[in-house]
Amino acid sequence: MESRLDHATRPEPAPLPPTPPTTQTGLPLNSFAGPIASYLEQLDARVLAQASEFDPEIVSYLDYVLGCHGKRLRPTLALLSGAATGGVTERHLDLGVVVEMIHLATLVHDDIMDGATQRRKQPTAAHRWGAEISVLLGDCLFSRALQICSTRFTQDISRDISAAVCEVCSGEILQTQRRFDLNLGLDAYLRIIRMKTAELFRIPCELAGRLNGASDEICQALGRYGEALGMAYQVYDDCLDLLGAEETAGKTLGTDLERGKLTLPFLYLLETISGEEHERLCEALLHAGSGSGNGNGLPKWSAAELVSIATERGAIRRTLDTLQDNLTRAEEALALLPPSPARESLAAIPASVARAVSELPGLKSRV
Ligand code: IPE
Ligand code: IPE
Ligand code: MG
Ligand code: MG
Repeated sequence: MESRLDHATRPEPAPLPPTPPTTQTGLPLNSFAGPIASYLEQLDARVLAQASEFDPEIVSYLDYVLGCHGKRLRPTLALLSGAATGGVTERHLDLGVVVEMIHLATLVHDDIMDGATQRRKQPTAAHRWGAEISVLLGDCLFSRALQICSTRFTQDISRDISAAVCEVCSGEILQTQRRFDLNLGLDAYLRIIRMKTAELFRIPCELAGRLNGASDEICQALGRYGEALGMAYQVYDDCLDLLGAEETAGKTLGTDLERGKLTLPFLYLLETISGEEHERLCEALLHAGSGSGNGNGLPKWSAAELVSIATERGAIRRTLDTLQDNLTRAEEALALLPPSPARESLAAIPASVARAVSELPGLKSRV
């Protein structure tokens, strides 16, 4: 049994978890990693090797977080975009390592904010060592990633990666500011997910093209592909939080409602519901994380009831339509790229996200 360590306790050396051949949330990475599968193995080793760049006394913390990989979507995008624009080079592997470390840093911080206890099928850093260590662990990952940039990339590319980190963190701040804000609205939601998630999908795609000297037109098309895919992916992840199963997702779910993060199903529902029901919905969204009942004396809707109402009123359907619109935009952006196995693989990712959504356990019987 995993026991929670005291904040001041040094971590025992963490055994490396086994490498799962498929992803944890139903995205069959094998089906699109074909042209870059061998590079992904190198990438895992390089990411893990970054742990030994730190002070020996803190290496085991980094071993723990760096040694357990997720779906490696962002490095996959860097490698496939490289392969689709002339070939994978050392610099694309560096780019993959950098975006994965930045992503991991955001996850370590995000888990503190969301109070999540599981990530990638293991206890979160925050759960094991508390928020203090985890904030600093995330900072270590960010700064090491940017240090790699400064030694491997041109100033232009390093600057763009640093700007992307600012964008992602700013998106997380905006989201935190707007928690429990029932006036959030669609535009603000879309802006937040573009910043916090889509930016780190856009960057590996666009920069992989730039590293190969591809034309501006191609690099921008790759950027549009990554951004639209990232938007869709966050909408998928928001559905996962509501409708997924923790055992397969490998991470704590259900925190969005609890923490007041209003996601698309509820933003659409708020638009369609009126009168006393609107009042009751607002109460339910504002108090989803607390055990307290409604101030209006009516019994509080549970998360499951909220999902049922969102389904009945077409809000889940609209969410899936928005997700699909973004996937279609991603596919369309690829049309500018010359045909290649790597382009086919890039094109397979949106289809795979669409399949993963349709297979969410809580969705199957609903739409
Ligand atoms: C989770 O990202 C956080 C989001 C931006 C939605 P992933 O689903 O790519 O997480 P890992 O890397 O596979 O763990
Ligand atoms: C995470 O969003 C976005 C980041 C930039 C880290 P979520 O909070 O939805 O990610 P998960 O669901 O915890 O992986
Ligand atoms: Mg989270
Ligand atoms: Mg989520």
